[in-house]
Amino acid sequence: MMKELLLLLLLGASSCRGFQPPASTTNNNHHRHRSTSSLLDNNHLRSAFSSSHSSKATHLNAEASTTGLDAFDYKTQWYPVIWAQDLPLNQPTRVTLFDVNYVVAKTMQKKQNDEQKDEEVYVAMLDECPHKKVALSEGRVTECGGFIQCSYHGWTFDGTDGKCVEIPQTVIATAAKQQGEGGATATQAVDTKRKREDGTAIAITEAQGMLWISPFLSPLEALAATSEGRLSPPPRVPEIDMPGYKTAIAIRDFPIDWTVLMENIMDPDHGYFAHSSSGSAPIGFDWYSSDGVENMMEVKEESTENGGWKIVSSVNAVAKLAKYNNEVRSLDAKGNATKKKKKKTVEQPTKLATSTFVAPSLIYLGRRDNSTATSNFLTAFWVCPVGTGRSRFMSAAVSKLPVKVPRWIVHMQLNNFLDQDTFLLLGQHRAVLKREAEGHLENDSSAAPTTTNNVRKSTYVYRSPSEKLPVKLGQFFDSTLSRVPNRKESLMAWYNRNNNENKLFEPWPSRETVLDRYEQHTKNCPDSQALVSRCDRVMKRSKVLGWALILLKLAVKPQSSIEAATATATGLFELGSFALGFRSVVSTLSSTLCALATSFANRLVQTKPFFGILAALFVSHYIAARIKREFFFKFTDDIHHEDIKFIANNWQDL
Ligand SMILES: *[C@@H]1O[C@H](CO)[C@@H](O)[C@H](O)[C@H]1NC(C)=O
Ligand SMILES: *[C@@H]1O[C@H](CO)[C@@H](O)[C@H](O)[C@H]1NC(C)=O
Ligand SMILES: *[C@@H]1O[C@H](CO)[C@@H](O)[C@H](O)[C@H]1NC(C)=O
Ligand code: FES
Repeated sequence: MMKELLLLLLLGASSCRGFQPPASTTNNNHHRHRSTSSLLDNNHLRSAFSSSHSSKATHLNAEASTTGLDAFDYKTQWYPVIWAQDLPLNQPTRVTLFDVNYVVAKTMQKKQNDEQKDEEVYVAMLDECPHKKVALSEGRVTECGGFIQCSYHGWTFDGTDGKCVEIPQTVIATAAKQQGEGGATATQAVDTKRKREDGTAIAITEAQGMLWISPFLSPLEALAATSEGRLSPPPRVPEIDMPGYKTAIAIRDFPIDWTVLMENIMDPDHGYFAHSSSGSAPIGFDWYSSDGVENMMEVKEESTENGGWKIVSSVNAVAKLAKYNNEVRSLDAKGNATKKKKKKTVEQPTKLATSTFVAPSLIYLGRRDNSTATSNFLTAFWVCPVGTGRSRFMSAAVSKLPVKVPRWIVHMQLNNFLDQDTFLLLGQHRAVLKREAEGHLENDSSAAPTTTNNVRKSTYVYRSPSEKLPVKLGQFFDSTLSRVPNRKESLMAWYNRNNNENKLFEPWPSRETVLDRYEQHTKNCPDSQALVSRCDRVMKRSKVLGWALILLKLAVKPQSSIEAATATATGLFELGSFALGFRSVVSTLSSTLCALATSFANRLVQTKPFFGILAALFVSHYIAARIKREFFFKFTDDIHHEDIKFIANNWQDL
């Protein structure tokens, strides 16, 4: 449990804003599709696990995977783009999917009568005003209608269907006509004459606190596709819907291709090395790895229902590398134990470490009871395919932890954790994007075109018994990536920018660019921003107070001069108050105040309190600065070099 607690801290714990899974009945917004399948999902899991040795309950079949993957359509899926709670009310916000920008907004629909509550409504549109293609995300939400208004010339759109509801420059003409001819018919006449131009509304829905868009479908098309079974509702993590679970959410954008980020999350073998210094992380990852001997990784379930792709694997959740390392590796060639202190391997009760991937975006990991399939702690990841070479990472720790850890603490831990391997992914991302582009060039000039671009198959070397699921994921990408919207165009653009005689010549971006926490996380997280402002305030105030104190110390000399100062102050006050005509009252008051101030100042500048207060101010300044630092670029080359030394603490070298 202790290990899980630490892991929980690493991967995000409870949220300070009290994130709650949405109750299943609160909204009747017609864009939203509520899944009632959470229990079903869980039962499904349960049957898959309890009958792991009988093949009936599992649909693991090779044919399904090939034909199913051919049918996988990126254009009829929901994509996670932002946590609903991170989207400020009435503030159009830009999100990006497959290199195209969209504007999303949370608006408040006014109640129709007293019994109804005001209701949050989410709208999404192509981030392009039809007038002159200005970004609508630079605009505003109108106060009464909740419409999206372009801030350039004020064209206004209903985000639920894209209809243009007003072109301000035509209002006068409309009104004049109306007055002249009278009535609604005149308005209609003007409207048909000066035809408005609608924007493009796209489907948006909310599930488990996440906003999902389906940008190739209008809201109405998404409704139709859903009722026809061509569009499944966003996949859910069953535990988030169950009572007793708390969810702690995080977000970070990366200049790393989304496919590479997904492969990283599904790779249990990297933790022992890449995250070696992250407390319990190496062991936590070890639970999900396979030794290929006693603890095999099995693919429990693979399904391609409704044009989707879902795959679940499991393996005994025991530490394997750690055990091997401690029992075998730490002996020298003669069989003598080496000097290194043996690490105790914590024996875990038999659980199944399960990894679930629901294409195209959701991954969740948990150690489950092998008969009930329940778990007290899971980590869930939603990877938004922002574009070629880009990704948005969103995660949640889902746990039965009784305490709430403030979200900013979680984010500090998680950002340190993510910094450890993100820069490694950059190399991988360059190599596979390059191969993918070359695959297209070969195919384009080939007499025998292929439908698959076998980058993973031809580039990676899989050796580890834990790579069952990564291999499957690689196959999924190889057979579907050529159909990802806009991918070929943006990929070839990237390649042409960075390629010279088949060599990538783009210099490696600096660590500072790749791990810029402020741009990637802080800017997108209102809670972290608020914390940074608080730190700034604390730093500023402690500096001002500190200097004031020092000046006071210099100004206020021993008792005698204090008395002199008091007298002067009193005199000044008396003079002033006399002029004002409240002499006696003000004089008494002022001399009392002066006396108080004097004794206070006197006490303050005495050596002990002076240094005490100065030290307290210094400490609070220091702490605020340290916390603030966590929300900006931090992971320098030096920190990396220090960090990788930790590998030697866990791994016994040959
Ligand atoms: C351990 O090392 C010592 C000296 O290096 C050697 O004499 C001894 O036989 C070794 N013990 C075993 C069990 O190999
Ligand atoms: C579950 O764990 C128990 C105890 O370790 C084991 O005996 C049993 O075979 C496991 N069941 C399955 C379905 O793996
Ligand atoms: C290869 O080219 C053909 C025809 O130009 C195209 O239909 C196919 O999608 C391409 N394959 C890949 C993997 O891009
Ligand atoms: S560009 Fe949007 S109103 Fe003109």
